[in-house]
Amino acid sequence: MAAITERKFLGFPEGFLWGAATSHFQIEGHPEELSHRLSDWSQWTATAGKIADASTADLACQFFERFGQDMEICRDLHLNAFRISLNWPILCPVAPEPGQPLVLDPKGVIYYRELLASLKADGVTTFVTLFHFTLPHWLSAKGGWNNPESASDFANFAEQAVTAFGDLVDFWLTLNEPLAYVYQGYVSGLWPPGYKHDYLGAFTSIRYMLEGHALAYKAIHNLRPGAKVSFAMHWRPFVPKTRWNPFDCMVTYFRNYVFNRMFPQAVQLGKLSFPYPISKNGAVKALSGPILGLKGTQDYIAVNYYTRELSCFKFKWPIDLFGVASDKPEFEVNCLGWENFPDGFYQTLVNGLKPFKYNLDGSVRPIYVTENGFPTAFNADMEEGDWSLADDLRVHYLETHLHALHRAIKDGANVKGYLYWSLLDNFEWAEGLKARFGLVRITYPTQERTLRKSAHVYADIAKKNGILSGSMVENEI
Ligand code: GAL
Repeated sequence: MAAITERKFLGFPEGFLWGAATSHFQIEGHPEELSHRLSDWSQWTATAGKIADASTADLACQFFERFGQDMEICRDLHLNAFRISLNWPILCPVAPEPGQPLVLDPKGVIYYRELLASLKADGVTTFVTLFHFTLPHWLSAKGGWNNPESASDFANFAEQAVTAFGDLVDFWLTLNEPLAYVYQGYVSGLWPPGYKHDYLGAFTSIRYMLEGHALAYKAIHNLRPGAKVSFAMHWRPFVPKTRWNPFDCMVTYFRNYVFNRMFPQAVQLGKLSFPYPISKNGAVKALSGPILGLKGTQDYIAVNYYTRELSCFKFKWPIDLFGVASDKPEFEVNCLGWENFPDGFYQTLVNGLKPFKYNLDGSVRPIYVTENGFPTAFNADMEEGDWSLADDLRVHYLETHLHALHRAIKDGANVKGYLYWSLLDNFEWAEGLKARFGLVRITYPTQERTLRKSAHVYADIAKKNGILSGSMVENEI
């Protein structure tokens, strides 16, 4: 038995936001998705071999039908913030006619207004993402983010979204994790459009995503000058696997530059720059340079943190400057092989995000942690028993990351809120339904919701606006 040490109360700043994050495709099970395959992702999941456990998101958590019940859970957990994303494919099921104004699907508008209004009625601060990985099929059919028109298509959608929902949204996020998106879609090939090692495709998408972000930022501010708009970046500290190996250090530099810094730096400076010698490639060079209206379009910092990565060089020809992620971890890993590394969370908040600290007017940007969470693996067809409810590993992850967050705030990081990923078990993209991040368990065959131990622990933290030092789990074992 571990020694019981005295636990100190670590309070968070007054008004701190405690919430949960979700995305539409992972939870909604929207009936239109099911019947018409309106997005690239619903088409992708219908293709054999794409999802690790062969599941689909056709039902997911049936959030579309059950959100009333789930909002009650949020109330019970004392959450005062909630992040959703809008289902672009449902709201814009057909390609807009050239020259005609875009009209959002009225049924979709009613649904999201109802959902957002119920959150506002409970006094919950709302975070709304416009693009969380799924494209309307008409846009993916013309090349998705590789098509230069994607930027204005996205901005048109943003403009209509702010018209329809602007009175109910506190924080807008234009894009979720652009680098994770292009990595999986153009390099690993695990997500649509499913290209492998297509760096040019990835960089092209980044260019148009930046243009789309700038246009969307402007459209939102034109209609709501006081709106708070940002994008969610996935920040992952990269470390050379062999610290003294210059090749490992080199790939670490490239991975960190491109994955973490390139996008926010482009927003900060108003121009896209690729690292040397990649920048010398003619096609890449054509993508770089200033982007109209981009500079400073980040009213707050939204960061998603899960883990760090050990990077190593791989000897092959032609030389790959990005190398690979090491499969030999140095700390405990979760079911997806990600190291538990709370210190990386601290480092990210205190040091990593420093270059993006200031708005153009010199004011300090607030930081919101828009995702942080821990998965456990259980098959989607499991129905009975108390499996996965005593989720001590998740509790441990949560506690250690909140301790790191508290330390970061004490050391000057301007963090104003934390959203756990995720409220419910949900559809984890190429991993399927088996990788579960929920504070709340979903028994998929019945769609029953059951609070895990982590939900109770998190509710207590949210209620008290603070956490005890040390670990509850260790003290109990
Ligand atoms: C993020 C993503 C979420 C969720 C989470 C857990 O990268 O934004 O949609 O899947 O990871 O892996």
